[in-house]
Amino acid sequence: MAYFKIVEDVYFVGAIHWDRRLFDELIPLPDGTSYNAYLVIGKEKVALIDTVDPTTINELMYNLKQLNVKKIDYIISNHAEQDHSGAIPLILQEYTNSKVVTNKKCKSMLKDLLLIPDEKFIEVNEGDKLDLGSKTLVFYNIPWVHWPETMATYLIEDKIVFTCDMFGSHIATSDIFDTKDFYLPAKRYYAEIMSPFRVNVRNNIEKIKKLDVEIIAPSHGYIFKNKDLIISAYEEWSSENVKNEVIIAYVSMHGSTLKIVEHLKEELIKRNLKVHYFNLTVTDLGAITMTLLDAATLIIGAPIVLTGIHPLAAYVCYLFNLLRPKTKFLTFVSSYGWQLNISQHLLQHISSLIPNLKAELIQPLLINGFPKNDDFEKINKLAEEIYLKHKSIGLTS
Ligand code: FEO
Repeated sequence: MAYFKIVEDVYFVGAIHWDRRLFDELIPLPDGTSYNAYLVIGKEKVALIDTVDPTTINELMYNLKQLNVKKIDYIISNHAEQDHSGAIPLILQEYTNSKVVTNKKCKSMLKDLLLIPDEKFIEVNEGDKLDLGSKTLVFYNIPWVHWPETMATYLIEDKIVFTCDMFGSHIATSDIFDTKDFYLPAKRYYAEIMSPFRVNVRNNIEKIKKLDVEIIAPSHGYIFKNKDLIISAYEEWSSENVKNEVIIAYVSMHGSTLKIVEHLKEELIKRNLKVHYFNLTVTDLGAITMTLLDAATLIIGAPIVLTGIHPLAAYVCYLFNLLRPKTKFLTFVSSYGWQLNISQHLLQHISSLIPNLKAELIQPLLINGFPKNDDFEKINKLAEEIYLKHKSIGLTS
């Protein structure tokens, strides 16, 4: 996509990656993404704030040429991950007098990841200013959104804060200012990348709120002229609050576990709990991670296969463990056949996969084969127990 002006002498020069469908070889990108690099032209110096994924370097170079950029004095690196830093070596080759401006931690990471030589860096500390002539940049550390070195750059005169991944959204769009549909792409992005670090996110929100900001310009997706939109969404997602919602994430081989979770789903809905229902063989992991921001209860449904829990359930438990959700209650339901002894170790097995989940465990339900009349009674009881747990923390009357 071509460059465009944000305010006088500040331009978007990044790249839209319309057909990217996976990030980190893990995260689905149903709507693509963008790498938002920004050019700030002062009366004396020119700064490029972040770059692009190296696969899209041609777009960045094209935009710089269209703007007739003859020199770049500073490449500001807010974050060392390669979707923003990966093109720095190529910019340094093209603009040989450029220096990379970043904090000490990010410098060290860029040296390791991209082999940028030490003499190419200018190291900055919290609150340091960089005068471009009529444009002044100030640097603030905003650690753990989502790496330890992450930094925000604030442009004083235009009241723009460049926050890199923080406040980003995975979306490819030709109108990056049209934020009316921002909520779900930003929520998906937050859930997949930021959610394990919600305490840091909250601290960094407070830091950003202290600045006099008119525009929030992240390095993925939408640019926010109404900063309250994205800040209030981040405040909601990063809080410890949960809703009267339940996630059922299941896999079933021959229909027995399916029957258990189907019945459980209906019983929960009867009790006015909102249910997010995911068949792990077909589901989009991003969709599950979004529901983890809201649901009070997580239920894993999986049969025993061979001599252990079904691998799809183990995979998703491992992912949930990395995401450290704020889930308050947790349980498992399972159908076993000949594996009675193994099923009795199920709880220990699954629990070992999710030690980071600080949820209260509700007694799991293990059913031999296809559920029978008395099993349906047990499922009803489990639904009632979940309902009462929600009631106990004020989520339902
Ligand atoms: Fe968009 Fe952490 O990189």
